[in-house]
Amino acid sequence: MANTSNSHYQQHFDQAITAPDTFWQQQAAKLNWYKAPHTILQQQDADHYQWFADGVLNTAYLALDSHIEQGRGEQTALIYDSPVTGTQQRFSYRELREAVAQFAGVLKALGVSKGDRVVIYMPMIPQAAIAMLATARLGAVHSVVFGGFSAHELALRIDDASPKVVVSASCGIEISKLIAYKPLLDDAITKAQHKPQYCVIYQRPQLLAQMHSGRDLDWQHEMATAEPASCVPVKATDPLYVLYTSGTTGKPKGVVRDNGGHAVALNYSMQAVYNAKPGDVFWAASDVGWVVGHSYIVYGPLIAGCTTVLYEGKPVFTPDAGAFWRVCAQYQVNILFAAPTAFRAIRKEDPEATLQQYDLSALRSIFVAGERLDPATYQWVTDKLAKPVIDHWWQTETGWPIAANPVGLALMPAKPGSSSMPVPGFNVQILDDSGKLLNANEHGYIALKLPLPPGCLTTIWGNDQRFVDGYLRTFPGYYASGDGGYIDEDGYLFVMGRTDDVINVAGHRLSTGEMEQIVASHPAVAECCVIGIHEPIKGQQPLALLLIKNGIEVDETLLEAELVAMVRQEIGALACFKKAIVVPRLPKTRSGKILRKLLRQIADGCQYTVPSTIDDPASLPEIASLMANRGLLQAK
Ligand code: COA
Ligand code: AMP
Repeated sequence: MANTSNSHYQQHFDQAITAPDTFWQQQAAKLNWYKAPHTILQQQDADHYQWFADGVLNTAYLALDSHIEQGRGEQTALIYDSPVTGTQQRFSYRELREAVAQFAGVLKALGVSKGDRVVIYMPMIPQAAIAMLATARLGAVHSVVFGGFSAHELALRIDDASPKVVVSASCGIEISKLIAYKPLLDDAITKAQHKPQYCVIYQRPQLLAQMHSGRDLDWQHEMATAEPASCVPVKATDPLYVLYTSGTTGKPKGVVRDNGGHAVALNYSMQAVYNAKPGDVFWAASDVGWVVGHSYIVYGPLIAGCTTVLYEGKPVFTPDAGAFWRVCAQYQVNILFAAPTAFRAIRKEDPEATLQQYDLSALRSIFVAGERLDPATYQWVTDKLAKPVIDHWWQTETGWPIAANPVGLALMPAKPGSSSMPVPGFNVQILDDSGKLLNANEHGYIALKLPLPPGCLTTIWGNDQRFVDGYLRTFPGYYASGDGGYIDEDGYLFVMGRTDDVINVAGHRLSTGEMEQIVASHPAVAECCVIGIHEPIKGQQPLALLLIKNGIEVDETLLEAELVAMVRQEIGALACFKKAIVVPRLPKTRSGKILRKLLRQIADGCQYTVPSTIDDPASLPEIASLMANRGLLQAK
């Protein structure tokens, strides 16, 4: 349990664990429900819990209409800043609500109603947020697919979510490169078994899309003639969205988020974790395709009555490494949230932060997540900004931070490398292989004692067994996070990395298992293994180790190029799959399991012990020398 002298934090923490009904009922009462819940936490069976089962609400109403009713209509709700198109645009709460109601009307006219799915495959333009909120307004379920994913990945998600409508745009803009989204969408629909009835396409002037008559509709045209739709009340337990994330297999998992628990948890987090007040400017420099974008570009800031910034650009090259500081100063951002990789990219381009000549007096704190904040990056950001820099740990599954320095309750002394304390509601424990509780400073599996607080995943879309087997069976009574780490003697949590085959490239979560499937399908490859190795800016990068089929001669450079093209085609450029080496053997246990952890340790220059169960210890120095020849071995 957390051990801190701060009484306000401690009071919330204790109450959320010992009296969750009282604690979360008080938090729920801060929202404008159609019917406030009386049943707070309910256990359905050994594995499933529900929050606020008899509550009725609408999440888009809470994010927009409720604020307008309370006199916040003229406040800016959303700022769109797009250095790649030279656009800056503000939407007041009233204007955003009008656009959302109008687009909800478009969807409704296309037959979308409560419970139907809408897939959203969009770049970072306001229409992405409008489409999400419009879907929520109808009580329908959105599933946003990150724009960097390939047609194949999009097809997998279309098949799993079976949407009635797909909303997309003609193109995205990556620095100065135009990404034509529509051909990817067309290809995905061809590949998918499920065929959506309609696609609504936002035509961007930079690149117009070819439309399929009968199926494709023009966003602007439909908006001009639609009748605005009103909010549809839903049960707290009804799904708000499905967001796919990488697991250990090739098939992504559709994390299901409910309406009630989500709204209550996000509203609580905006106050307790971020110390955000209505009217504050909150900028999460992420993408709506990720959970950070769902929670802290769209829903969290709007439910809390803040102004949110939607930024279509990069930390560097749009146009330079001063972009973040320019946005913070121009919009008087109070709270900035970004991935450590973004700061490493800025530091590389502008190590002395000479481009940071803006007035950042409004900025109160900087939150980072998506991967571990390494102490060197923590130090650099702290030195250059002289503001609290807060590492906080969470996952797509939880939807909001599990551990943080909750500045709305207390700003605790930071410990570099730690994401600080468990957030009230999360009962974080460190377990060994057998599920035994470990002591302070002992490394183990990070597990969350059930029940999870509101806002966390309720199941996996269409596959409850995968939810139960994947998260709840490893340690009965706990949610297994998939991360490893330890809690120190002061109760600070150190998250050290994944314990499974998931890797994190530039804050993007990817499955090495999925890459292995693609690489193994190459006709020359007999067997392969993909591991995540250290990369100075992106944190990790994938590396494939290949065994070639007997009797096949390969040109390694050509083979690598073919594999790179295959992964790019099947997953997308965001996988950053660029390296593959041919090895004479793959180290395995006698039972045939590839020793991936050992390979990672070799590549990262870590100390390792050669397990007694290994079938061929002599292969290890050979592999290390092959990695060294390619410059892939990390210095110790
Ligand atoms: N649509 C299409 N393609 C995309 C894309 C999108 N939305 N996002 C990334 N890509 C492509 C890029 O164009 C690039 O393609 P390339 O190989 O043809 O050049 C590839 O995917 C890798 O992109 P990226 O990871 O963004 O690398 P980068 O070198 O362009 O930029 C960083 C490096 C660190 C600046 C960038 O990764 C970054 O800003 N990361 C922060 C990520 C983040 O916010 N994560 C959310 C977690 S909170
Ligand atoms: P995602 O579901 O894409 O948000 O990725 C979640 C994973 O990212 C976690 O399981 C961690 O492995 C990693 N992660 C996110 N935030 C942090 C953090 N602050 N510290 C360490 N790892 C993190």
